[in-house]
Amino acid sequence: MKHLVVGASGQIGGAIYKSLVEKNQDVLGTYYTQPARGMRKLDINERSRVFKLVKEVSPDVIYACAGLTNVDRCEGDAKESFKVNVVGAANLVEAANRVGAKLVLLSSDYIFDGDRGPYDVNDLANPLNVYGYHKLLMEQHVATVCESYLIVRTTIVYGWEVVGKNFIARLIHKLSQRQKIKVPNDQFGTPTYNRNLARTLIELVGRDQSGVFHLAGSTSIDRYGFAIKAAQIFGLDTRLIQACPTAELKQKARRPLKAGLKLDKTRDILTTKLLGYEEGLRQMLKDNL
Ligand SMILES: NC(=O)c1ccc[n+]([C@@H]2O[C@H](COP(=O)([O-])OP(=O)(O)OC[C@H]3O[C@@H](n4cnc5c(N)ncnc54)[C@H](OP(=O)(O)O)[C@@H]3O)[C@@H](O)[C@H]2O)c1
Repeated sequence: MKHLVVGASGQIGGAIYKSLVEKNQDVLGTYYTQPARGMRKLDINERSRVFKLVKEVSPDVIYACAGLTNVDRCEGDAKESFKVNVVGAANLVEAANRVGAKLVLLSSDYIFDGDRGPYDVNDLANPLNVYGYHKLLMEQHVATVCESYLIVRTTIVYGWEVVGKNFIARLIHKLSQRQKIKVPNDQFGTPTYNRNLARTLIELVGRDQSGVFHLAGSTSIDRYGFAIKAAQIFGLDTRLIQACPTAELKQKARRPLKAGLKLDKTRDILTTKLLGYEEGLRQMLKDNL
C-alpha cells in the first residue's frame, strides 16, 4: 500500500508519517513552510500542483493533515481559513477521487457546541466558531463526493513535535523556564497522545474501514487538571499553573466547554488501545521526538 501524508511537517501528519516509516510502509510526506528531509513541498491551494503530485505518486491512501489549525487566527481571518481548510482540502478530495485513493480527513470535536460532551459519532454538529464550521463543511463535502473515505475526529492532540506548539509541549517549555501559565478549568475534553492517534489511525486504514470515526484519548479532564497532571509527570512546578475560567482569557474564538469524543464505535474495531491522558503523558515521557 502506498501512503501520501499531506501536512507531514505538522504535529499529526508528522506522527502518522513517522509511524508509517517505522512500519516500513511506502510513504511520501509533504511540507509547506517547514522543510523536512525526504519530503516534498506542496501548497494545497495550488490546484494543478496538487493533481500533478498525486498523479505522480498514485497513492492508495491520502492523509489530509494540512490546514490552518490556530482557532483564533481562523476566527480573525475567516477568508484565509476557508481558503486553506475548505478550498485547499477540497483539492485533495478531488485529487484522491481522480486516482481512486482513499481520503483520510482529520476533523475535530470543535464541530460540536460543547453543551453536553463527550460526543458520539452520530451526535448533531453545531459549531461555535469559524474553524469548527469549516471542519464541518469539509466533513460534509467528503461524505458527499468521496468515493472512499475516512473522517477521523480527534481533539487536544499533544506530544513531541518539531515545532512544539501543542498545549503540552508549550506547557513543558514554559514551566521549564519557570514562567507562570493561566489555564482554563471549565474546558473539558479527551486529550489525545499524537503517537497513539497515529497508530490507531493506521490500524483503521489497514482494516479498510470507511465512514466517520472518533480517535481520541479514552479519559476526560479539564485543561487545568490536565496541565497539573502533566507537570507532575514531567517533574515540573505545579505552582506556576493558575486556574481561570475560559472567559478570562478573552480568546477570539468561542470554545466548546464540555467537549471531547466518545470512542465506542472505534473500540469495537481496534485492537490497539486508545490511551487515557495519564497513560499518554507517561508514554510521552518515555518517547523522544
Ligand atoms: N492538533 C489538534 O489538537 C487537532 C484536533 C482536531 C483536529 N485536528 C486537525 O488535524 C489536522 C492536522 O493538525 P495538526 O495539529 O497536525 O496541525 P499543525 O501541526 O498545525 O500542522 C499543519 C500542517 O499543515 C501544513 N499546511 C498549512 N497550510 C498549508 C497549505 N496551504 N498547503 C499545504 N500544507 C499546509 C503545515 O505545513 P508547514 O508547517 O510546513 O507550513 C503543517 O504540515 C488539521 O486538519 C486539524 O484541523 C487537529
